[in-house]
Amino acid sequence: MSQLPPFPLSRPRRLRQNPGIRAMVRETTLTCNDFIYPLFVRHGKGVQAEIPSMPGQYQWSADKLPAEAKSIAKLGIPAVILFGIPAGKDPVGLENFAPDGIIQQAIRAIKQAVPELVVITDVCLCEYTEHGHCGLLNLPDSPHYQPHLPEGFVLNDPTLDVLGKVAVSHAEAGADIVAPSGMMDGMVQAIRIALDAASFGHIPILSYAVKYASAFYGPFREAAEGAPKFGDRSSHQMDPANSREALREAAIDVAEGADMLMVKPALPYLDIIRQTRDAFPELPLAAYNVSGEYSMLKAAAQRGWMDERRVVLETLTAIKRAGADLIITYHAKDAARWLAG
Ligand code: PBG
Repeated sequence: MSQLPPFPLSRPRRLRQNPGIRAMVRETTLTCNDFIYPLFVRHGKGVQAEIPSMPGQYQWSADKLPAEAKSIAKLGIPAVILFGIPAGKDPVGLENFAPDGIIQQAIRAIKQAVPELVVITDVCLCEYTEHGHCGLLNLPDSPHYQPHLPEGFVLNDPTLDVLGKVAVSHAEAGADIVAPSGMMDGMVQAIRIALDAASFGHIPILSYAVKYASAFYGPFREAAEGAPKFGDRSSHQMDPANSREALREAAIDVAEGADMLMVKPALPYLDIIRQTRDAFPELPLAAYNVSGEYSMLKAAAQRGWMDERRVVLETLTAIKRAGADLIITYHAKDAARWLAG
């Protein structure tokens, strides 16, 4: 820092005195191009079911997606990220890579209606497995049973094969970007190899590289119907107490071929966003402003305790200021409207 003269020569308020000057010296600008909007898709016809813990967010059936995709694109939002609620669940989550699975239908519906809208898909097992875990479980009756590991443990390497199949299936249906979120070791490499082998070398991987075992996912688990039936995700998602480990996770994913990184959640982890941005300046960085962050502001706003527009724009600006290039946020449509004035 250069030496600044003290008061009365230094008067920082000179640059805050009117909107014109404030706009000139503003360091961070939020635009609708920064947003990725999450969509939950389920089977059925004519479904637009509001998620009770996430007012203003819905589960959609695929036939309703063309209209919704058009309204998203019209607001200038460049991308959506899709989460599927399958018709049935099983130990592997077979619908996850079925050609007519719910996500595959949703991708086709959106790409057909609005080809320019970028479709990102979440690649994980938790919404599809009957136990709600992000990988195959170590169970005595499973072909992957490993007696030296605890029963019910999330198996890493057998899960990688499934993740590869899911990513290829999403790419075949027309996804533009795949986003593995399961925090399995080696997931980026496994997906890269599977995509390349299926001639999808051009499909980028947005890795949920730094994902914490967070209670802020609570409302999402209702929205996506993917809560674990027992136990938690602490054997693969990160401990909220750790930050050096975040850089290790990100470095591994970069080495495995990730094209973009993500930090998740966003607001309680602004320090992690900043550190990741500084450590990997060459990669685009996304932050996931998760369901619990959304629901908190929404609930307070509904009670009249805070000005929704102002707290949302302040929150999103803070996430960008911390170093995120892209923000996955349920506020995207509202924020895009507000930014357009
Ligand atoms: C896993 C996944 C989760 C979220 C996004 N992808 C849930 C989890 O890890 O338990 C949470 C997103 C949110 O809370 O908004 N498929």
